[in-house]
Amino acid sequence: MTAMLEIRNLRKSYAGVHAVDGVSFDVEQGSITGLIGPNGSGKSTTIDCIAGFQKADSGRVVLGSSDITGLAAHEIARAGLMRTFQTVRVYDRLSLRDNLTIAAQQFDKAKWTDELLRTARYREAADAAEKRARELIDLVGLGRYFEAEAGILSYGQKKLTALAAALMPRPKVVVLDEPVAGVNPTRIREIEEVLQRLNAAGETFLIVEHNVEFITNLCHHVVVLDQGRKLAEGTSAEIHTDARVLEAYLGMTPEMAEAEMRGAA
Ligand SMILES: Nc1ncnc2c1ncn2[C@@H]1O[C@H](COP(=O)(O)OP(=O)(O)O)[C@@H](O)[C@H]1O
Ligand SMILES: [Mg+2]
Repeated sequence: MTAMLEIRNLRKSYAGVHAVDGVSFDVEQGSITGLIGPNGSGKSTTIDCIAGFQKADSGRVVLGSSDITGLAAHEIARAGLMRTFQTVRVYDRLSLRDNLTIAAQQFDKAKWTDELLRTARYREAADAAEKRARELIDLVGLGRYFEAEAGILSYGQKKLTALAAALMPRPKVVVLDEPVAGVNPTRIREIEEVLQRLNAAGETFLIVEHNVEFITNLCHHVVVLDQGRKLAEGTSAEIHTDARVLEAYLGMTPEMAEAEMRGAA
């Protein structure tokens, strides 16, 4: 397996608080990797440092074969690490197609001068963007709204549109910050299926989430943080039976967890 993203010994303090205290892990190419932990364990700070929204005090972040440590957020996005936000960013007055083609233009090699001159290169880029937009909107299950204004979509559908937009420039890794926070429970399963479809189509995800069930259903590999440190990592099954994780995160002893599983069986 190849690591698409390597995080090595990342540290970040705020006025003496060790928010992230020497965290290392890999996101394998083609994986869905989960980052979980109790409130205040350092999840947001970790992904902020990875994506360049905060500057780490020390440590290294390598994306593919590029060292992206200390780069600005827009440079990291250009290098191929996209982050979607808890708050949805779609343009309500634009169609889903236009929301996506605009997202692609930010990273296109074809420049505004090309558009002005309507060069072959520009038309080629525009055609490719349109085709990719169609594919992605189909993959997130919103094909019938392709030409519709994004303003008519539900909150969950807007989140899926924002996700599709983030995938337009073919990122190497997509970081999702709490993708099911505030989403109706009946829709969570849909988002899970969409992420599985996108993953099957080759996308690599790092997902930060409070919803443990969502993470354990979806993720090939789970990293658990506690008080700024990596407490454990492994498959969902390994995490679920790890005594330290059960105690620190789920507030259970292994006996309680086992009793609960017997109860559920
Ligand atoms: N901008 C900030 N200024 C000061 N302290 C912060 C800041 N951001 C986070 N922290 C502190 O760092 C620790 C980790 O926070 P955070 O990364 O938000 O954890 P999580 O996302 O897991 O809830 C917490 O103790 C939090 O209070
Ligand atoms: Mg957080």
